[in-house]
Amino acid sequence: MKSEHKPGSKVLVQALVTANEPIRPRFWKLLLKLDPEGSRCFSKALPGQFAQFDLSHLSLPPEESIEENLRDRAGRTILLRRPFSFSDIFTSYSEQGTYVCLEVIYCVLGPATVRMTSLKPGDCISLIGPLGNGFWYPETMKNALLITGGMGAPPILHLASCLRKNYPHTDVTAFAGARSIDCMPFELKIGNITGATLEEFERLKIPVHLATDDGSVGRKGFVTELLKEWIEKKKPAPEQTVIYACGPEPMLAACAEIASRTQISCQVSMERMMACGIGLCQSCAVRIRTDKSDSPVYQLCCKEGPVFDSRTVIFGEGQ
Ligand SMILES: Cc1cc2nc3c(=O)[nH]c(=O)nc-3n(C[C@H](O)[C@H](O)[C@H](O)COP(=O)(O)OP(=O)(O)OC[C@H]3O[C@@H](n4cnc5c(N)ncnc54)[C@H](O)[C@@H]3O)c2cc1C
Ligand code: FES
Repeated sequence: MKSEHKPGSKVLVQALVTANEPIRPRFWKLLLKLDPEGSRCFSKALPGQFAQFDLSHLSLPPEESIEENLRDRAGRTILLRRPFSFSDIFTSYSEQGTYVCLEVIYCVLGPATVRMTSLKPGDCISLIGPLGNGFWYPETMKNALLITGGMGAPPILHLASCLRKNYPHTDVTAFAGARSIDCMPFELKIGNITGATLEEFERLKIPVHLATDDGSVGRKGFVTELLKEWIEKKKPAPEQTVIYACGPEPMLAACAEIASRTQISCQVSMERMMACGIGLCQSCAVRIRTDKSDSPVYQLCCKEGPVFDSRTVIFGEGQ
């Protein structure tokens, strides 16, 4: 029932900013280039792993560029590093050598992420990683069903490109949901009669089904309804299928329930507030059921997660 991934070594690195641009209102894409040591450690990072970013030294952007409802909060001092996962990790080649690049999609919602928007090419930030376990790939897998809700998108996008690269014979289908079109951290493209589609999945030739709570894009309703209907219609072989999910906890709980009913295995990436990110402060506990005892145990989201087998998670704490 546990992750089969053995986390590799983590490193404290200075990453060089090569790009930092808005992709949609409130969502930005940051590109970082690593030095040889960072490249060595992050080249083996799995989708779902994350890093702790030190953003405490960054200055605020000009007041007029900060959303009005964030202006008060944006001024708060940043004491702790902030966790971010990656929407892609890739190797780049140049005359100077080979290095690893990290792509981060972030939502601007508080003091650290407001400051991140002021990063310019040539700036450096300190990060510790890769941390946590990441998604794993069962040998029997022939169908991967990727579910993302709201800001759960980055590690699912990373997973999608890794599956395409390393498991070309696996059928991959994506389901993306959010409260509304404004909460979708993607490059949305309005297509032909099929309606809207997401560039990121289209580039990888992965079909994607969309849902929003208010119906502003895709089906009106929860993304997990689309998943349920897809499974009922396609009837994939349970032992060859894996559901991978990242998003708000009620969505993860619904995925776990569908997985349990259909006997499909399911990996969920959990989110907790993380003060240290390296297993020291105990602030990120997830309640887990085990075969060994009737009482639940607590595992650390930053160390034993953030990805868990959904059968082990007792949902409800982070909702
Ligand atoms: C493993 C992991 C991976 C993450 N990956 C990404 C990512 O790829 N892109 C991205 O935009 N964000 C990601 N986050 C969330 C990100 O860390 C926070 O949005 C960020 O720390 C906010 O910092 P801030 O100072 O701007 O806002 P804060 O003032 O710290 O937070 C703003 C609001 O968000 C809530 N919040 C912040 N962090 C969390 C959390 N971990 N769980 C639940 N609620 C939270 C706060 O309660 C507050 O209401 C990730 C979090 C974790 C634990
Ligand atoms: S964040 Fe400190 S133990 Fe997990």
